[in-house]
Amino acid sequence: MSNYETITVEKRRKVAVLTINRPDKLNALNKKVHMEGVAALDELRRDDEVRVVVITGAGEKAFIAGADISEFEGQTPVSQRDLFHEKTFFNSIDTFPKPIIAMINGFCLGGGNELALACDLRICSEGSKFAQPEINLGIMCGGGGSQRLTRMIGEGRAMEMMLTGEMIDAETAHKYGLVNHVYPKEELELKTMELAEKIADKAPIALQLSKEAVKFASRSNLDEGLRREVDLFAICFSTEDKKEGVAAFLEKRKPHFKGR
Ligand code: COA
Repeated sequence: MSNYETITVEKRRKVAVLTINRPDKLNALNKKVHMEGVAALDELRRDDEVRVVVITGAGEKAFIAGADISEFEGQTPVSQRDLFHEKTFFNSIDTFPKPIIAMINGFCLGGGNELALACDLRICSEGSKFAQPEINLGIMCGGGGSQRLTRMIGEGRAMEMMLTGEMIDAETAHKYGLVNHVYPKEELELKTMELAEKIADKAPIALQLSKEAVKFASRSNLDEGLRREVDLFAICFSTEDKKEGVAAFLEKRKPHFKGR
């Protein structure tokens, strides 16, 4: 892996942990984090040893406290629009073929919440706080929040978060379906890594196709979605991993998937 200034990447067996490393700024997303995040995910996508990625924030207080507000000064509508036309960390996560888990360890605000929403699963610690506080700055979210949050938690709840900018706690986020699991702070890493490793042992192509199918569900109507699912299901039958999975079941042993 290359060396980065604002992020670190650590490979632990089949799981890569990508940490946003600006704890003194509560891991706020500046342009450099976006650039480096895109580059790191590109490397991890091509690395066959890596089957699952976990994204987290450095330090004790925050996952990500949003976009770096200090970069907003002097921005024009055109420069802001251009920013989102370039490849952003959000799009790279959204289109990443392997499972990505957000391990949320504190403030998960604005662009941080949008980044977590682009991930496949969200696991948080008990003290975590979630918000789309852009409204307090006289703006709104631009990293997919209004669309992904609404699809995930429903219009009424998303509307309240977007219009008030107020924080919700981990328990409420769990009740809303915004996070999959909540754990005490000291168990967060262990529980997240257990889940990541469990997924990392599954068949890589089937994981990728499953992700594609689930993501397509909120981007299509039911008939299109059902047709896409059958096509993806059929592709599984062309893989060596399907032969291995079925053989292992019949021979009463653990399968060894190779991603072929
Ligand atoms: N952009 C830039 N810097 C940020 C930031 C952001 N989104 N969020 C926090 N920081 C910086 C602070 O400016 C401060 O830097 P400094 O020590 O150089 O002054 C440092 O991170 C620590 O934050 P601080 O505000 O002192 O911590 P706190 O515990 O008192 O408050 C928050 C925590 C999250 C409530 C508060 O930092 C906050 O409201 N941040 C902005 C959240 C936001 O609006 N995000 C959406 C942006 S669109």
